[in-house]
Amino acid sequence: MCDIVVGGQFGDEGKGKIISYLCLKDNYDIIARGGVGPNAGHTIVYNGTEYKVRQVPSGFLNKNTKLYVGAGVLINPDVFLDEISKFNEFNVKERIKVDFQCGIIEETHKVRDKGDENLSKKVQTTGSGCGPANEDRIKRIGKTAKDIPALNEFLSDVAMEINNAMDEGKKILIEGTQGFGLSLYHGTYPYVTTKDTTASAMLSDVGVGPKCVNDVIVVLKVYTTRVGNGLFWNETDKNKKSDNKADKLLNDLKISEKLAKIKEWGAVTGRERRVAPFDFELAKRSAKINSATMLALTNIDRLFDCAGVRKFTDLPEDAKKFIKIIENEVGVKVKIISTGREYSETIDLR
Ligand code: IMP
Ligand code: MG
Repeated sequence: MCDIVVGGQFGDEGKGKIISYLCLKDNYDIIARGGVGPNAGHTIVYNGTEYKVRQVPSGFLNKNTKLYVGAGVLINPDVFLDEISKFNEFNVKERIKVDFQCGIIEETHKVRDKGDENLSKKVQTTGSGCGPANEDRIKRIGKTAKDIPALNEFLSDVAMEINNAMDEGKKILIEGTQGFGLSLYHGTYPYVTTKDTTASAMLSDVGVGPKCVNDVIVVLKVYTTRVGNGLFWNETDKNKKSDNKADKLLNDLKISEKLAKIKEWGAVTGRERRVAPFDFELAKRSAKINSATMLALTNIDRLFDCAGVRKFTDLPEDAKKFIKIIENEVGVKVKIISTGREYSETIDLR
């Protein structure tokens, strides 16, 4: 059986932090990365050092864990090999495998991504070449990992390796990338990425069937951010806010004033992220369509005075109130709460 972690908003919910915590705490045998490709950047902080991964699974901190990249994922060989050499101290090279059918991003894909005005100016893509590489993949003219000599030593039948491991009772975590609002099918089309981003898509990316799933953990930041163009859900209907009970409660907690002070930059693009209040409609929808079994909330220390808190009872009353509002509105329990960037700054209610 496996567990899945996915983003419930527009990417950058803090999946890297949650996954690195889970991988160290729960000692997964395998962590397998799904999603689009190196357009996603996950940030992990371990003993004060920051690591950014765009290809390597976020569970690399645990040296006992095998690291897999699923067939659905695009690989940029330069980015992949560079990351492996950067994380040498963690023996990533000895533990990582990519599916022989992973799609490949070539230099021309990046040129097309940046040169196409619809992509670079309208959609404001990450410019990492993922869209054009998927375009070629769909046309059945793209390269795959087995065509690239530099990837030869990392090739594997990832889908069968994972399924065989599940048969042996091993613990598997599937790492999702991007977020629900960026899904090609369910997100804010046309301001989306080039694949579905739900839990079902992550299963398909790594080659696991729907009956092999234990938990689906949907990660939500306690406010909403977005890099690139496209509306936030709660920008589409200005009147919605005043009618919504939960939004009113956010007003009481003076969330907007706190949000005005928050500044964030994209892990891949370095672009400033737009910031908006927590969107209950989006959270409800993504919890439903992902069939969430639990929620993980991140960045709560940015709204409330609770940096590094590890016990629920030590949270400020307003933070507890806020968590209850989210649970009630979304209808799914909050089981993990992140109170800081370091992997261990986590409240675990499981
Ligand atoms: P693309 O995936 O590079 O084609 O970009 C399409 C849209 O998705 C742009 O708005 C990107 O900023 C956004 N996007 C893609 N991947 C991520 C991610 O991992 N985090 C945040 N935004 C992303
Ligand atoms: Mg990111």
